[in-house]
Order: sequence, then C-alpha cells, then structure tokens
Amino acid sequence: MVRRLSLFGATGSVGRSTLDLVRCDGEAWRVTVLTANSDVAELAKLAREFRPGIAVIADPARYGALRDALAGTGIEAAAGAEALVEAAQRPTDLVMAAIVGTAGLAPTMAALAAGHDVALANKEALVSAGELMTAAARASGATILPVDSEHNAIFQCLAGGRIDEVRRIVLTASGGPFRTMAAEAMAAVTPAQAVAHPNWSMGAKISVDSATMMNKGLELIEAHHLFPVGLDRIEILVHPQSVIHSMVEFVDCSTLAQLGSPDMRIPIASALAWPQRMATPCAPLDLASIGRLDFEAPDEARFPATALCRAAIAEGGARPAQLNAANEVAVAAFLSGRIAFPAIVDTVRRVIDAEAPAVPASLQDIFSVDAASRAAAQIFVDQLVHA
Ligand SMILES: NC(=O)c1ccc[n+]([C@@H]2O[C@H](COP(=O)([O-])OP(=O)(O)OC[C@H]3O[C@@H](n4cnc5c(N)ncnc54)[C@H](OP(=O)(O)O)[C@@H]3O)[C@@H](O)[C@H]2O)c1
Repeated sequence: MVRRLSLFGATGSVGRSTLDLVRCDGEAWRVTVLTANSDVAELAKLAREFRPGIAVIADPARYGALRDALAGTGIEAAAGAEALVEAAQRPTDLVMAAIVGTAGLAPTMAALAAGHDVALANKEALVSAGELMTAAARASGATILPVDSEHNAIFQCLAGGRIDEVRRIVLTASGGPFRTMAAEAMAAVTPAQAVAHPNWSMGAKISVDSATMMNKGLELIEAHHLFPVGLDRIEILVHPQSVIHSMVEFVDCSTLAQLGSPDMRIPIASALAWPQRMATPCAPLDLASIGRLDFEAPDEARFPATALCRAAIAEGGARPAQLNAANEVAVAAFLSGRIAFPAIVDTVRRVIDAEAPAVPASLQDIFSVDAASRAAAQIFVDQLVHA
C-alpha cells in the first residue's frame, strides 16, 4: 500500500536521510509536502524529483524564487509560517518533523491536532511544549514516533515490557568532540571543531549541542515527555562509540538495549516503517571489528548543560522553553563567531537566572516565553561581544 509522507525540513540532514530511504522504495511512498527555510534551489530540485502536491519555503521573501523554480511543474508553491501550518494539516499518513529549532513547533502541533502520526526529529519543539504536544496527540489519537536515535532506541526497547515495569532508562551520549578536553582549553575551540562530531554527521546546531552536551540535556527533557517513568529514573551514560543508542532496564533487572551503526537512516527507517520494519542500505553492525564498547559517567563539571536541563524540567512550566530558546540564540552566536564556546551554556544560565517565566497555558504563552528568552539571550550575547 502506498503511504503518503509530509516532510518538514526536507533540505536538512534528517530530511535528506529520509528522502534517501524513500528513494530505496519509491513505490511504497508518495511525498505530499516538502518544506525548507531558505534553500530554494535544493527545495525545488527535490520537489521536481518527488513531485509533492505542495512545496513550502518558510522565508516569505523567497516565495517568488520558489514559484519561478517550480513553474510548469504543477506543484503548488507557498511561503511563510502560516503556509507551513496549513501544509501540516493536509491529508497524509505520516509527518516527518525535521525542522531545526522551535520554528518547527507550530507545524508539528498542527499535524498532531489534525490527528496525523508524527515522526519527530525536531526535539526543540518537544522540549519547549512537551505537555501541549503530548496532550494534542492524546486528544487526536495521533502517535509520536521518536526519530532521535536515543528515543527511537528506547521506543524499540519498550516493546519488551510495559512502561510501569521500567526501573531505569539509560540515555547514552557520545560525549561529543570535546569529551576528553580540559575545561580551560574549551575557550579556544572553533565552530569548525565543534561541528566535527566524532561519530555522527548532523546539522550544525545539533552538532554544537552535542559538543556542549546540551543535546543530551534536551534529550533528557524529550525522554521525560515521551516516556513518563519519572525524571529520577532517566540517567545519562557516556558511551563514546555510539553503538548502543540507549537502554531500558526493567524491574526484574533485565536490560534491553538497541544497537546499530551510527547512521540516522536506521532510526528514521524504524519510524517510517513502524509498526513494521523496512530494509535499509545502512552498514550492518560489525561488533568484531569494533572490538570494544566503553562507558563513562558524565562529567557535569566540564559539561554543566545536562544539569541545567535536569533542573529546568524538574521545575517544569516554561523553564524548558526558556532554556531552549536561549540556547538557540547562543549556538547561533557561537556559530557566527560572536561568542566563545563556554559562553553558550553561560548565556543560557544567565537567561534562566534573570527571570522565572510564568507557567504557560497555551502555545501562545510558549511563543511569548520563547521570544522573551531570545531577546534576553541576545542582550547577554551583545554584552559579551562588546566587553
Ligand atoms: N541531524 C541529525 O542527525 C539529527 C539527529 C537527531 C535529531 N535531530 C534533530 O532533527 C532536527 C533537524 O536537524 P538537522 O540536523 O537535520 O538540521 P539541519 O541539517 O540544520 O536542517 C534543518 C532543516 O530545517 C529547515 N529550517 C531551518 N530553520 C527553519 C525555519 N526557521 N523555519 C522552517 N524551516 C527551517 C532547514 O531549511 P534550509 O535548508 O532551507 O535552511 C532544513 O530543511 C533538529 O531538531 C535536530 O535536533 C537531528
């Protein structure tokens, strides 16, 4: 049976990996929506290949370029935030949420509210609005299928027992490119070094998050929303080889783990094919040549981001949204060379310390906290730049 796929963030790392899998079994899929932020040329190229009903560019200033690039194809061109939301509501069998940052929140919420199953890569949306998103899914009957490799691993392990039989969830972390670096040396690291992840090939923002370990903190919040076992039952374990993608220990002390090569197409395929499996072109795991698997406790003195995230989700309300927005601003400032690497987490901490946001009652409240946090983070970044 042909399944319809709406792909948000088609031009990114997860988006391209998703389309690689669709190419492997073109007969099985009909792509209905493709979106990007600013990369009109790539979006138009993908649209010409996959023939969706609509292609949406988030940046409204690029509408004319997209319309011209798709002239004569019969593919509808649209632009802007409202067009993304409208596209997310269109009939489909699966929405792949692969936009980076809270920019993906509104379309993902729209898809869930419309009752569409969502393969969720866009962790920032869940971090910022976890309660609202899971409530929207419950209300409409939509399923959230985790794409993040760790959460996808946990999701797969949970097929081996009930959630109330879980004793502990172990989120594994590679430790990033600076795992063994002294804290003092981190002041001098460059964006190029930070995005050079030892195991995974990913977009720039998540690569920097992996280097600060903020990614693992965001994943802790993500896991808390997806797998409600209690925050104190979710642990982080550094595992430099990224072969075990996470583990679930049950009450009988049996631990189930999901293993695989560090290739995002594996968890993406799991989400695309769920509840079945699909063949992939990925390299099978060769444990004999890997030889050994190592584990370490996380070092929260050198990488304080995970503790910040744990405190934010323990406090709840809009704290995680505030933290996430400040982090997005700080990461962008680091990537553009405006602030040093340690200033990313410092900026997030300063924003958190400066103001306690009110408990959000709606998506609009989350957007307000997000905007206020971005403004505050920008002020701290500017102060650092001009210091
Ligand atoms: N990459 C991975 O291996 C991986 C693994 C686990 C989870 N994730 C999560 O998956 C999400 C995507 O990550 P990625 O690495 O694929 O990111 P990426 O390579 O930077 O791609 C981001 C995608 O989102 C689009 N986009 C960016 N800003 C946008 C905006 N303001 N409005 C609408 N669309 C926007 C981009 O379009 P343009 O190309 O036009 O800029 C692109 O299609 C993130 O939340 C990340 O944490 C990624």
